[in-house]
Amino acid sequence: MTARTSKTWGGRFSEPTDRFVQRFTASVDFDRRLYLQDIAGSRAHAQMLARIGVLTAEERDAILDGLNRIEAEIEAGEFEWSVELEDVHMNIEARLTELIGEAGKKLHTGRSRNDQVATDIRLYLRGEIDRLQGEIRRLMTALLDQAERHADTVMPGFTHLQVAQPVSFGHHMLAWLEMLARDAERLTDCRRRVNVMPLGAAALAGTSYPIDRFYTAELLGFERPAANSLDAVSDRDFAIEFCASAALLMTHLSRWSEELILWASAQFDFIELPDRFCTGSSIMPQKKNPDVPELVRGKTGRVNGNLLALLTLMKGQPLAYNKDNQEDKEPLFDTVDTLRDCLRAFADMVPAIEVKADNLRRAARQGFATATDLADYLVRKGLPFRDAHAVVGQAVRAASERGCDLADLSLDELRAFSPLIDADVYAVLTLEGALAARNHYGGTAPEQVRARVAEWRERLAAAD
Ligand code: ARG
Repeated sequence: MTARTSKTWGGRFSEPTDRFVQRFTASVDFDRRLYLQDIAGSRAHAQMLARIGVLTAEERDAILDGLNRIEAEIEAGEFEWSVELEDVHMNIEARLTELIGEAGKKLHTGRSRNDQVATDIRLYLRGEIDRLQGEIRRLMTALLDQAERHADTVMPGFTHLQVAQPVSFGHHMLAWLEMLARDAERLTDCRRRVNVMPLGAAALAGTSYPIDRFYTAELLGFERPAANSLDAVSDRDFAIEFCASAALLMTHLSRWSEELILWASAQFDFIELPDRFCTGSSIMPQKKNPDVPELVRGKTGRVNGNLLALLTLMKGQPLAYNKDNQEDKEPLFDTVDTLRDCLRAFADMVPAIEVKADNLRRAARQGFATATDLADYLVRKGLPFRDAHAVVGQAVRAASERGCDLADLSLDELRAFSPLIDADVYAVLTLEGALAARNHYGGTAPEQVRARVAEWRERLAAAD
């Protein structure tokens, strides 16, 4: 007896799928979000089949019409998704046949769900990378605006979280900009490898129909069809690569979040985060918590986890397609969603960060940030750097004991440490002097900061 099943592959089975197994193996609950890409792939496939004479023009038009109706149904929330039909591909195909009859059954000629799903994910990821680039760009622009506004704002630069040397707040912003720019570059690079078309690889070996894969690739905006059918249906390295780039980007946002959290604390008090990006405490009325950066820092964990999930998913798979690959979608979707939300939060928040320039300046003065400048000054007067280092160490100790900055010591007091010191020393002991002195490409001098901002603005405009 042949059991009746609504499965498209039900022919060789003698009993219906166990109900639990049906749910266990189904992916429709999460892969239905690929419906636009699945429909786009089917449109291109049908057009190609008609071009090589496998479908008549009427059949093609019926299919295109049916796919349009399905898209509208899904968009209107009227489409009935069925777990029995396993995944997005079979749900759409079954509905197509329901709508247009015989022609619908011909759509799957010369293709397999294996090349279909690999194509869908690539189309999806390509589109998402482009949207992410838009958010990164918005964030880069916000950084450029802050950098320009605060090119002359002095803050303490840190190493080991100890005050090291004064830097321009704008320069500090441009450090984050450089990191983001590399992240954007990585995504651009990844997109090149995403944009290769698996369709036509069929199940694993290609198909006996005289398909024109270059035509389908052109219709779908792919750079080219994949050159090996086994590789095309099975590898998910493009998704792993994307997740690796995402993990790096999140790592940057996480480090940045950590700074914003520290800076917004009463102890640092460098910045004010806009109220609308913070929340209060249910018990402590005074609290204003930096939830958004904290969450971004926290969400880095799941993005790193997704990368590891995909690497582990791939590592034991023999060629070609294995059902394991169905597990690629949720980590990938989650990575895309998380990254987009985090970038959006930052792009909205960064322009509204209020910089407390007076506090930044006070903090820079407290930590002997110009000690290196005093040493460099002594070197210019002929003292070897190691000796200068020792002299300044004594001066710092004296100032520290008196509870004042180096610039607060009188000329006589300073000269007690070295007779090479003259009245012109005060020019280097000021924060502005220290900043302006680092006037070379990549340095923190306000002039350099403004030059980098101008360069970046030009680069971003040229990329338009
Ligand atoms: N839902 C499957 C996936 O996400 C589609 C491909 C299934 N192919 C198969 N031969 N079972 O990978």
